[in-house]
Amino acid sequence: MTISADRETRPRLPIVDHARGKRSPVTCRLKCADACLGPECNQSANPTFRSVVQTAFSRRALLGGAAAGAIAIATTTFERPTAAVAATGPTGLPFEPIAPVDASVDSFVVPRGYQWAPLIRWGDPVLPGAPVFDIAAQSPAAQALQFGYNNDYIDILVDEGGLTGVLVANHEYVNPGIMFPPSSDPAELRRRSEIFKAAQGMSVVEVERDAPGAPWRTVPGGRRNRRLTVDTPFALTGPAAGSSLVRTAADPEGRTVLGTLGNCAGGTTPWGTVLSGEENFNGYFSAPASTPERARYGFAQRPTSTGWETWDPRFDGTAPGYENEANRFGYIVELDPSDPTSTPVKHTAMGRFKHEGANVTIAEDGRVVAYMGDDERGDYLYKFVSKHRVNRGRGPGARKQNLRLLSEGDLFVARFTGDSPAAEIDGSGRLPQDGAFDGSGEWIALTRNGRSAVPGMTVEQVLVHTRLAADLVGATKMDRVEDVEPHPTTGRVYVACTNNTRRGIDAPVDEANPRLANRDGHVIELVESQGQAGESFAWSILLLCGDPAGAALTYFAGFPPAMVSPISCPDNVAFDAEGNLWISTDGAPSSIRRNDGLFKVPLEGPERGRVQQFLSVPRDAETCGPIIRVDDAMVLVAVQHPGEDGTFEAPNSLFPDYGATGPGTAAAPRPSVVQVWRA
Ligand code: FEO
Ligand code: CA
Ligand code: CA
Ligand code: CA
Repeated sequence: MTISADRETRPRLPIVDHARGKRSPVTCRLKCADACLGPECNQSANPTFRSVVQTAFSRRALLGGAAAGAIAIATTTFERPTAAVAATGPTGLPFEPIAPVDASVDSFVVPRGYQWAPLIRWGDPVLPGAPVFDIAAQSPAAQALQFGYNNDYIDILVDEGGLTGVLVANHEYVNPGIMFPPSSDPAELRRRSEIFKAAQGMSVVEVERDAPGAPWRTVPGGRRNRRLTVDTPFALTGPAAGSSLVRTAADPEGRTVLGTLGNCAGGTTPWGTVLSGEENFNGYFSAPASTPERARYGFAQRPTSTGWETWDPRFDGTAPGYENEANRFGYIVELDPSDPTSTPVKHTAMGRFKHEGANVTIAEDGRVVAYMGDDERGDYLYKFVSKHRVNRGRGPGARKQNLRLLSEGDLFVARFTGDSPAAEIDGSGRLPQDGAFDGSGEWIALTRNGRSAVPGMTVEQVLVHTRLAADLVGATKMDRVEDVEPHPTTGRVYVACTNNTRRGIDAPVDEANPRLANRDGHVIELVESQGQAGESFAWSILLLCGDPAGAALTYFAGFPPAMVSPISCPDNVAFDAEGNLWISTDGAPSSIRRNDGLFKVPLEGPERGRVQQFLSVPRDAETCGPIIRVDDAMVLVAVQHPGEDGTFEAPNSLFPDYGATGPGTAAAPRPSVVQVWRA
């Protein structure tokens, strides 16, 4: 088999505005295999909404219950925080919101009084022996020792003492057209295809600093440093491990998968591991949609952007013995960054879909609850509740137990019910008469006590073909659920629905997805009604994103729209120690072409809903993986796909080197982790 000669020339893309918000057709093709072209994968007829008027959960009850502290939860340590949520109040991270930055500008912009610097860039050394990055001399061996491409989720797990730690980063996908000059040489294209395997996956890099609040620096060759690539062994855990659905010629036991794909958002667990979502994994396979299962996950027989299917049978959905290879991706991955010899795992108990990420909290009874989104138009919101309780000990025995928590438990999918008459949800974004898009919801069990809860499906089928199971139980079709994260002190859960311009075409509006052609997305605030591990919830829409000065109606938790920063396409969410929500974006409001950014949103007090832009990323880039550290007066973001729409010869961005010369620099855009701190 050979790679077609034109694979590496600039992709010839349809000149259509299928990209939503600011996202370009290049990003859509490379990241999501053009998922937003054509109708939804979800052709199920399950009801998207019950137009039942319910009064049990008024907006007042929802917010009052939470404010009264009715929900006890844990933070990302095992200790429950003692302080109530602070109102915005005095902050260690004060800033004047920046103005939106035009999409033609190739700058990283921070508020007055702050400065920024890259912490690590694509190609920087990670493992011992890594060569200094030279964009003209890339090789598979070099890339496997260097920081990967297109960083998305990041976190720094700080060691005791506060001066050292490990940075963990996801590398979601690659962009052949700006990593390399055009080529039609089959041998060169094959070599690049191998580089792409090494450029994806994850990185673990030790970091150190001189004092709390001082900028971090990486420790190349550090003891815990690690690269995980598309060839790294992962162990499957949970009920579907070893099943006939995940066995292949190379792995007849169905328990060891090579590699992780499409690693998008993630979460850090209270026991010190990192979770990573395998998202748009279908795009790496050339596999005919020959079964309902494959069709439901968006598979197609077509050349991929990485070309692996031309030389590795794992990615050729027609190769004998590898029909199930694609069933081994689409999971939540767990990595223990403290042990560089540990085998990372894929948790089948948490289901298989286009996992954006997973965020864990500890329920009142000690069980672990993970919230997860399936980022595709018309797909669903999920929750996992562990069978066992967290072990709050600090020893190796406790750690060993906690590392198994996500391997056994119950998987649920969300059904939202609005409390306003359906006629009042007119698709414009106008609030219904009760003053809120809100209502109640149920967590519908897909598995219970290790068994299937879906009639007609085995537990293995439910966990491998989770989308089909969720279709059968009548889950609510959502506007692309991205990051879903429980608040560390209130336990309220924030659900970013990034956009869905086909809302109204593939599925009607409902109170939880109330805007037709929802280009700008929204954020839902969810309150568990029976404790964090319970099976019912109340919800309301916190933000209807957009430009308040634009044509589309917006809503900012009742805050005056004229006083907020325009925001669109919410993607990653995070919290600061003062209880504020932070949102990073993947798209600009429809009325303006602006670069993506990071935004702060107070959740309490008179400023609740006041969206304020903190930073703006360079041209064509997406803001990912925000880390907000008020105590350090520091923010870190992953800048993904800068200069995505350019070419190697005519780059759209020179971030972050910006013309610097010398060893390790490049006159090309480089996805990088950036730290921002008070000057
Ligand atoms: Fe990779 Fe759902 O964003
Ligand atoms: Ca309502
Ligand atoms: Ca994302
Ligand atoms: Ca997050």
